[in-house]
Amino acid sequence: MKIDFANLQYQHDLYKKEIEDAILKVARNCNFIMGEEVVDLEDALQKFTDAKYAISCSSGTDALLLAMMALGIEAGDEVITTPFTFIATAETIALVGATPVFVDIDEKTYNIDPIKIEAALTSKTKAIIPVSLYGQPCDMDEIMTIAKKHNIKVIIDGAQSFGSTYKGKSDSNLGDISCTSFFPAKPLGCYGDGGAVFTNDEELSNKIKSLRIHGQTKRYYHKYIGMGGRLDTIQAAVLNIKLKYYKKDLALRQEVASKYTNLLSSKEDVVLPFIKEDRTSAFAQYSLRVKNRDEMQEKLQNLGIPTAVHYPLPLHLQECFSYLGYKNEDFPISEAVANEIMSLPMNPYLSDEEIEHIVKSL
Ligand SMILES: Cc1ncc(COP(=O)(O)O)c(C=O)c1O
Repeated sequence: MKIDFANLQYQHDLYKKEIEDAILKVARNCNFIMGEEVVDLEDALQKFTDAKYAISCSSGTDALLLAMMALGIEAGDEVITTPFTFIATAETIALVGATPVFVDIDEKTYNIDPIKIEAALTSKTKAIIPVSLYGQPCDMDEIMTIAKKHNIKVIIDGAQSFGSTYKGKSDSNLGDISCTSFFPAKPLGCYGDGGAVFTNDEELSNKIKSLRIHGQTKRYYHKYIGMGGRLDTIQAAVLNIKLKYYKKDLALRQEVASKYTNLLSSKEDVVLPFIKEDRTSAFAQYSLRVKNRDEMQEKLQNLGIPTAVHYPLPLHLQECFSYLGYKNEDFPISEAVANEIMSLPMNPYLSDEEIEHIVKSL
C-alpha cells in the first residue's frame, strides 16, 4: 500500500469537470486580473465566514503583510507571536520593519500561551499574531482581553485553519484582522498561491483593498505605499468550485482525525492532538509527538507511509532571526515539541483501510 499525504490528485479527479470548465472559462474570457470570479469568491468567503469583509489576495504571506500594512505596523514597533509556526508569520513582521517578539506555546494545543503574553508586552508592542496551528483556533477570549487592556491589535494567522470555529464563530471572524492561505496543500487550497484577509472594520477593509493594488484609490492615483497582492482570477475560479464542497471536505477531515485518535488512544508512547472543547479544528495536519522521530519516519516511509515535520526548528533559533539575540532554551516547550512532532498523512479521502495500515505501522 502506498499512501498519499495530501492526495490533491484525488480531489482534482473528484471535481475535475467543474474545475477544468471554470479554468477554461477564465482562459476564454481573458479576464485574468480581478475578473468576476474574484468578486464571486469574496462574496462566498464573506458568507462562509460571516466576517463583514473578505478580501482575496495573492497568498497567506501577503495576507499577513497586507494586515500589518493596514494597521500601520512599521520600524520601531514590536509584534508578539509564537516561535512554533511557519516562517511567514514572523518573516512578515520583519518585512514591514518591525521586531518579532516570541512567546512560548501551550504544551497541549501547541498554540501561543496567553498566560505568557503580558510579560512580553512593552510600550512598543503594536500587535499580537496568534497562529491557529494545525487548524485549531487559539485562546481568543484571553488574547482579546489582553489586547483591549493594552490597546493593541490582534491579527490571526489562520493560514492552516480556514473553516475552524471558536465558540461557534469562524476563526476568520475573530481578532481585528484574520488571514488565511489557499496554498494547494491547505485544507481549502487553490492551484497555485492564494490567500484572503477578513475583517469587520470597513475602514480597514477599504485600506486593505487599496494596499492590494499598489495603494491606489483611483487608477494611477496612489494614496498608500502598497503592493501587487491580488488573487489571480483562475485561482478564484478553482476556489469557487472547491468552496461549494468545502463543508463536506472539512467534515471528512474531522472524521479522519477522530478515527486516528480512536485507534491511537491506547498507544502509550505518543502524544495525540488535543482540541479544546469550545472549538473545532480544520485539521490541516494531524500531528503527534513521538520520542524516536527519525527512526519512526524512516520505518513508515519504507512501509509506503509519508510523514512530515511541522516544524523542526522554532523560529527563535533560525539563522535569519539570529539578530534578535534569542538562544537555546529560551522557549523550552516550542523546542521540545519541535524535536518530537510528526505529521501523519491527512486528507479527506483517507480510507479506513489506509488509516488502519498507518496506525498498525506506527
Ligand atoms: C502558519 C502559516 N502562516 C503563513 C503561511 C503562508 O501562507 P502562503 O504559503 O499561502 O504564503 C503558512 C503556509 O504555508 C502557514 O502555515
